[in-house]
Formats: sequence, structure tokens, C-alpha cells
Amino acid sequence: MTVRPPARHELDAIEIASRDEIAALQLARLKWSLRHAWDNVPHYRRKFEAAGVHPDDLRSLADIAKFPFTAKDDLRQTYPFGMFAVPREQVVRIHASSGTTGKPTVVGYTQADINNWSALVARSIRASGGRPGHIVHIAYGYGLFTGGLGAHYGAEKMGCTVIPMSGGQTERQVQLIQDFRPDVIMVTPSYMLAIADEFVRQGIDPRSSSLSIGIHGAEPWTDAMRREIETRMAMDAVDIYGLSEVLGPGVANECIETKDGPTIWEDHFYPEIIDPATGAVLPEGEFGELVFTTLTKQALPVVRYRTRDLTRLLPGTARSMRRFARITGRSDDMLIVRGVNLFPSQIEELILKDDRLSPHYVLELRRDGRLDALTVVVELRPDLAASGAADAAAAELGRHIKSMIGITVDCVVAPTGKVERSIGKAKRVIDLRPRS
Ligand code: DLL
Repeated sequence: MTVRPPARHELDAIEIASRDEIAALQLARLKWSLRHAWDNVPHYRRKFEAAGVHPDDLRSLADIAKFPFTAKDDLRQTYPFGMFAVPREQVVRIHASSGTTGKPTVVGYTQADINNWSALVARSIRASGGRPGHIVHIAYGYGLFTGGLGAHYGAEKMGCTVIPMSGGQTERQVQLIQDFRPDVIMVTPSYMLAIADEFVRQGIDPRSSSLSIGIHGAEPWTDAMRREIETRMAMDAVDIYGLSEVLGPGVANECIETKDGPTIWEDHFYPEIIDPATGAVLPEGEFGELVFTTLTKQALPVVRYRTRDLTRLLPGTARSMRRFARITGRSDDMLIVRGVNLFPSQIEELILKDDRLSPHYVLELRRDGRLDALTVVVELRPDLAASGAADAAAAELGRHIKSMIGITVDCVVAPTGKVERSIGKAKRVIDLRPRS
């Protein structure tokens, strides 16, 4: 793979500024952001007062720990526009998350917010090896989800030719990739694999496609999945991270030269890692929940937003800005099976170690008497359909899960097509337990 990393002179100066310069910028911006939230959002003012803090109490970056957290529930309580810090007329764009229960979470952007967002996605594309003039195929969903439009504005800002394909119509995705010959694809990792399968179904070798860079995110994925995508597509695959409440895609992005976890665009977001149980700030390098405070957002400043994403903060490598380790999972996705904590990503790694198994899998949770029982359903590689390898592969996966994770699970190796394909974020867990 021959993607050229950006040269130093192509980067924004702040990406390679000294840590002192970055911290000074963060402190000045953090003061502004807290004051902006306090002055313009009654919900924040009430929360700050209840916690006995005032924006003037922030004198150093560490003082952020005095301020109360924000969570999805704050956005629900103030639905739809109660967290906006500017008059509604200045909000030029709304996005919303579907939300599995109840009302969606609504977020808004001023024109300046859209400009910053576009610049950060452009920076993310550049970090991934993209350049002006590249053709970028966007297969993240367009609409209320931030993926499609977020990627789109960033790619345009970068000076790329954008193909706004959106998610779905998998046959057509392949046709357009063949006809328009894009260099870059932006798509969830699980849908990338569905597109790769469709190439094969159409009798085309996916390695022969024009794509040289995949920018994948919006769901947890493992390094094993990266290798799978890179091998099947003969391209570089990098990790893009973001969430609607904080921005959308482009809060952090991996650098192509190191591929060692997303670099946080720290000039716009202040990260912390907290203990999810106690809320205490953890020292750098420890594993916990990622929390972000926005530093420049006008329409929707968020103060210490609890992402529920679990990871570790790491020092910068390709940039001076800090990174985080690949997200292990969301605290809400953690399964507890017979007392053992487990993330779908741990099972994914074990599945992908076996050449006989495909990366299409789902975890089914059932109630078995008083205990929870887990079934791993995974497909055999299509070329092995007639080989009779299924039973042996299932038994071996079960043994690996028992020895690596410590739980007994049922493994079912199913024929191709049994596991439902996503066109966006994959659903990895199906909870079939009776509602209590
Ligand atoms: O998924 C924004 C996005 C779009 C990011 C396209 C990247 C690419 P939400 O729908 O609000 O926003 O979901 C945010 O998705 O809290 C994580 O749990 C998960 N997530 C996003 N990116 C990654 C990633 C978009 N690279 C939630 N790795 C986040 C792991 C991710 N999880």
C-alpha cells in the first residue's frame, strides 16, 4: 500500500505545536466555552450553581474536574432546543440521533460550527492520506445522522470530488466505485465488508478496485478487522471517531503514518478519562470512560460530556496532540455473562483469528433458567461452504472463548447470509432475554 502521509508543511500549525502551546490555547478556549454555556444556557447555569461552581473557578485545565458532567439525559430533558446557546435563528443545521428509546437527541450548529466541523473532517481526511483532487465516495448515511453530511462537507472543504452515495443499495455502491474510480471511501467498517462481499458476488476482485484509503468509524472495530479490510480491499484502513453530541465525525482521527489510535483534535476538544463508576478523573494511560468538553462550539457547547466509550488516553506520536487507544466498546454494550464482563470486540478478535470464519457475526443473549446464556452466531467463509468445516470451527471458537475470556458460550457457525448485514452501524448484540 502506497498512500503518502501528509508532509509537515501541509499540516495545520497547531497539529505539531508544542504541548505548552496546545495547553495554553485549550485553557483560553475552555474559559470561553464555560462562560458561553453559563451565560446562554439556563440548564448549564442551574447545574453549575447546584454544584457550587462558576466559570471563574477554572484557572487551570485540571480545574475542569470541578464542573458537573453532561450526559445524553441532559439533552433529553431539554428536548428539542433547550441546550442551544445561541438564538435559534443562528442555528443553520440540526442533526439528531435516532435513540433506541424515547425522544431523539437533537444537536445544532451555527455557520461557524459547520465551518470548524468541515475543517476538522478535512484535517481527518488529510491525516488518513487523502489529498485535494482525490475522489471520495461517501457511504455513511445522509440525513439526521451526522456521518454522511459531516463527511461530505469535510471532503468538499478538502478540495475533493465528492460522491454522496449514502448507505444502502449495495449493488449500486459497487457499480459506482467501478465507474467513478474513487481513491477514498468513507463508510462504517461493517458496511465496508458487505460492499467487499458484493464485489465478489458480482465476480469482481475487490483488490482490483481504485480505492486506496478507507476511513472507517461510527462503531467499534478491532485491529483484526482492520487487517481483514486492508487485505480484502488492498487499501489502507484508518479509524475516524466522533459523536453527534460533541460534533459528529472528526473529533479524532488516526494518522496514516502510525495507525496507532485516533489523534484527538485537541484544539477543539478537551479530553478526560474518568472512572465510570465514581466519576473520578483517572491519570493518563488508565482505562476508563472518555469525556469531552467542547472548546469552540457556539450552538451547542458541551461540558464534560460522558461518551460511554471506554478507552485510554495516550501521548501523541505522529502529532503533538494526544491519542486514545481503539475504543473497546461502550459501557452500555458491555455484557455480563455469568459474572464475566465481556465486549463484542473481544469475540470479534477471536473470530478473525480463524481463517475459516467470516467477520459477519452477532451475539445472542438468552435467559437459560436463572442464568444468562450467550450464543455466538458467525458465518463460515463463503468459499468453505461445502467443506464441512463448520462444526470443527464452532467447537474451536468455543474453546478459544473459554480459555481467553473465561466463559462457556454456544457457537453456531452458519451459512453465508444468515447474519443480517448492516448498511450503517452493525448491531452486534441481540438481547432475547424476557423483559422484566
Ligand atoms: O457515529 C459519528 C460518526 C460518523 C463517527 C461517521 C465516525 C464516522 P453517533 O451516531 O452520535 O455519531 O454515535 C457516536 O458511535 O459514542 C461511539 O460509541 C461510536 N463510535 C463512533 N466512532 C467510533 C470509532 C457517529 N471510530 C458513537 N470507534 C460513539 C468506535 C465509535 N466507536
